[in-house]
Amino acid sequence: MRRAVEAVSVMIERMLLLPAAAYTRARYKGENWVELTSIELSYSHLPEAFDGTRVLVFSDVHLGHYYYSRDLASLIKQSINPLRPDLVCFTGDLFDKKMTEREQVISALRMIKAPLGKYAVLGNHDYYDSPGRMRNMYRQADFTMLLNESTFIHRGDQAIRIAGVDDMVKGRPDLHKALHPLKEDEFIILLSHAPDFADRISNDFPVSFQASGHSHGGQVRLPGIGHLTAPLYGRKYVNGLYPLKEGELMLYTNRGIGLSVFPIRFWCKPEITLITLKTKPLNCPNSKKIEN
Ligand SMILES: [Fe+2]
Repeated sequence: MRRAVEAVSVMIERMLLLPAAAYTRARYKGENWVELTSIELSYSHLPEAFDGTRVLVFSDVHLGHYYYSRDLASLIKQSINPLRPDLVCFTGDLFDKKMTEREQVISALRMIKAPLGKYAVLGNHDYYDSPGRMRNMYRQADFTMLLNESTFIHRGDQAIRIAGVDDMVKGRPDLHKALHPLKEDEFIILLSHAPDFADRISNDFPVSFQASGHSHGGQVRLPGIGHLTAPLYGRKYVNGLYPLKEGELMLYTNRGIGLSVFPIRFWCKPEITLITLKTKPLNCPNSKKIEN
């Protein structure tokens, strides 16, 4: 009896899963499949030289798992570069397992144009390879990998700081190390693969914007219910914009491009996010979603 029940449940699972997987794979390569989310974030302490800065965030490509360097190259040509970002941030999980198609991936990433720089952090899946090899690969792709590190981006005589922490699942994130030494009145952008790192940011570290990925938005969502599952450290802030600390810290969790484990996305399109930073007069709202 038990075997019969198991056989029937496997059959039902295959009947449900295989068409969904085939549908996802078919849609996945379509150029309209990736959704652009545009958001404006306003801060009174953003240096005026950075008013209007366009920050493109993408995440979780998972190369080698139903997504390959040629797909990444067309994403860059068709969806990323036409947005003319000033700054590009990648929030981890470039590869699904070990590094694959290394030279082709470097060529694709080098195509991204961003005059203020291109930055990346490691995700848990990037730990299938070594941080040293990942850093070397990013360097060749004109990206700066931030592993508990930060750097200043200058425009004229003004600057903002961009920091990146290590992955929460496989690494050792250390914001103190990343931001040391901290100066007064800095404007800080933080990249963390895991969105739930936001809860570890104490008031000692005045991060204004955190960009994250990791959760894939749950990958499978149901209307009216939302995500069904999410990974460790991606369970609290699964998808979209979260104003934290009374709006002092804005967190954005990007749904990512690729797939993890099951080759399915449902009600949860892949996403790239364009954040426009604005220097606001006091008493203006912090954020607004822009219709594309
Ligand atoms: Fe991921």
